[in-house]
Amino acid sequence: MNMDIVLGLQWGDEGKGKFIDLISENYDITARFNGGANAGHSIERNGKRITLKMIPSGIFMKGVQNVIGTGTVLDPVSFKKEILNLQRFDETLQPEKNMIISRKAHLVLPTYKLLDIFMEESPDYTTIGTTRNGIAQTYSNKILRQNLRVGDLYSSDFKSRVEHILKRDYRLLASGDMVLPSFDEISQEFFEAIDFLKKFKCTETEIYLNKALSEGKSILAEGSQAAMLDIDHGTYPYVTSSSTTAAGACGGLGISPKKMGEIYGIAKAYCTRVGNGVFPTELFDETGEEIRMKGNEFGSNTGRPRRTGWLDLPALKYAVMINGVTQLVLTKADVLSGLKSVAVCTHYELENGTIEAVSGILPESARPVLKWMDGWNADFSKMKSISELPKELTEFLAFLEEELAVPVAYLSTGPGREQILKMK
Ligand code: GDP
Ligand code: IMO
Ligand code: MG
Repeated sequence: MNMDIVLGLQWGDEGKGKFIDLISENYDITARFNGGANAGHSIERNGKRITLKMIPSGIFMKGVQNVIGTGTVLDPVSFKKEILNLQRFDETLQPEKNMIISRKAHLVLPTYKLLDIFMEESPDYTTIGTTRNGIAQTYSNKILRQNLRVGDLYSSDFKSRVEHILKRDYRLLASGDMVLPSFDEISQEFFEAIDFLKKFKCTETEIYLNKALSEGKSILAEGSQAAMLDIDHGTYPYVTSSSTTAAGACGGLGISPKKMGEIYGIAKAYCTRVGNGVFPTELFDETGEEIRMKGNEFGSNTGRPRRTGWLDLPALKYAVMINGVTQLVLTKADVLSGLKSVAVCTHYELENGTIEAVSGILPESARPVLKWMDGWNADFSKMKSISELPKELTEFLAFLEEELAVPVAYLSTGPGREQILKMK
């Protein structure tokens, strides 16, 4: 058996959660391989919506095992809140029974979140517009080899090692003018959350996953964030701090690239971005606002308004290329319904006159060259068959398939679980 992967191809929030919730029933295991509570993966069930941050999106599927993999960063305090919230949402859930956590996943300590805010607000650092979950601080401590991992929580000196780091960070934080919570307060909350975390099985998930594959079980790897937020390939420095790509799934889960199966790339029919950084096709006009309102483009996690713009093909081609996407899932075309015409950026024209058709480097000065196409108008809310798709949208999809050389396998037609059409 192979591992299939679901990845965001733009700047996040493409609708990964909805798609994974839907297809996870076809798999034995769903596994998160990167990021932490910076993710916000929304799922709708019976008209109710829930946003998953750290928990894999297969959690609602009976019989599916969920794995929080080695490449992730786990915040025990946020994790505890999320589990309790999930159990309020669905009282039948027993996540201790169908979720395991890598012993090698790195822990987010409470001071990392404070340092995230500190750095975002200090004039001495570039303001990224982070989700303030201490993601960069955790990954940087990991790379510095100064961090603690989930497996460490069973060691006898765990408490003193945590306190050492907290005290070290407090000394640094005291150099600023941030109002800090008391040391005892954050320390108590953290250790209570650690006790809660101990209810879950922490294990060598690499061995678990590889054994599962050899026994013929199927795995779905769940990407969080997206290609243009990747630490290496994204729009640095306005990126997250993990590997968000298909290669990141192999590294983050400890599975050989030889075992990769389908690579589902999720993209919206337009673009959005939260936080700072280059966005060549960004709209600052009424159309941009209309897309934001109709698409409910407000962060699932932070509530921040998302920036909106036309579909960016050079960036999307780049994302398809670095990930080796085999099937495209297009979401939110319904949001553009009613617009007389829609645009797609096909190239960038750079200051020196160069034309770029595939690019992960999006300079501020890049002028997007737009192709205008006829807009579509349809009631997507109850659409059940591809024969009901408006002709203009069918042409739009055919254009994308030709440009990207990847089939559009699914078209999501609304936020609801049933609102999706299988195209191939
Ligand atoms: P993720 O981070 O990639 O899982 O995406 P988010 O959940 O952060 O954001 C996607 C939002 O779009 C959620 O509110 C989804 O419910 C919603 N959504 C997903 N697919 C569609 C779609 O095809 N049409 C519309 N209108 N909303 C969608
Ligand atoms: P999902 O999985 C959208 C963005 C932040 C910021 C940058 C760095 O829901 O698609 P971080 O907190 O990671 O240090 O922030 O990355 N960002 C996301 N944007 N969706 C996400 O996740 C994101 N996770 C991080 O807004 O610009
Ligand atoms: Mg999201």
